[in-house]
Amino acid sequence: MGTVMMIDHPLVKHKISLLRDENTGTRDFRILVEEIAMLMGYEALRDLPTEEVTVKSPICESKQPVIAGKKLAVVPILRAGLGMVNGILALVPSAKVGHIGLYRDEVTHEPHEYYCKLPENIGERLVILPDPMLATGGSAIQAVDFIKAKGCKSIKFMCIIAAPEGLEKLKTAHPDIDIYVGSLDEHLNKNAYIVPGLGDAGDRIFGTR
Ligand code: PRP
Ligand code: URA
Repeated sequence: MGTVMMIDHPLVKHKISLLRDENTGTRDFRILVEEIAMLMGYEALRDLPTEEVTVKSPICESKQPVIAGKKLAVVPILRAGLGMVNGILALVPSAKVGHIGLYRDEVTHEPHEYYCKLPENIGERLVILPDPMLATGGSAIQAVDFIKAKGCKSIKFMCIIAAPEGLEKLKTAHPDIDIYVGSLDEHLNKNAYIVPGLGDAGDRIFGTR
C-alpha cells in the first residue's frame, strides 16, 4: 500500500505562500519551485534504504551507511514538472531523468500525451514523478499508468499543490504509489483550476500565457 504524506514544514508553507502571490514574477517563481522541490524531496527520500560500507577516516576504519537499493529516475510531467527537477537532482545528482509530455485540453480537461522518453531499465528504478499541480488528477493518473506499463513498481508522485478531488482520484486509481503533497487546497473551480492555487504553473514557470 502506498502512503500520502502532507509536507508539514514551515519553510515549505512559507515558500508556497510566496508562489501563490500573483506579484511573484517568473524568476522568483522558478527559484521557489526548485527550492520547494528540494525540501519536499528531502522528505520523500527519507525511506531510502542504506547499507554499511567500510570507510577509512584519518583515525580508523569503521562501518558507515551509504544509500543502497534501487537506482533512481526523476520523470517530470512536462512542462511544469520540469521546474522541480533541479531541486530533486540537488539531492540525488546521479539520478537519471526521463520526460513525459502531457497537456490538459482546455475544454474537456482530459490529458493528452505528446512526448515520452524514459531512461533505460526504468522498470528496475525508483521513479520520482514531480508535477507542481494535481488538479483533476487526470495527468498524474495517465503518467503513472504509463510508467507502470513500462514495468515500474516503485513510484513516488510529488506535487506542490493538490485539490482534494484530484488527490482522491489518484489514490483510488493507484493505491500502491506514495504521494507527497505540499499543500492540500480547497477545491477546483469550473475551469478545473485549483482554488486558491497559484494559477497556471507552466505559464508562471516559463513566462508564457
Ligand atoms: C498542468 C499541471 C499538471 C496538470 C494538472 O499542466 O502541470 O500537469 O495541469 O491538471 P490535472 O490534474 O487536471 O490533469 P498543463 O496541462 O497545464 O500543461 P503545462 O505543464 O504544459 O502547462
Ligand atoms: N494546472 C495548473 O497549472 N493549475 C491549476 O490550478 C490546475 C491545473
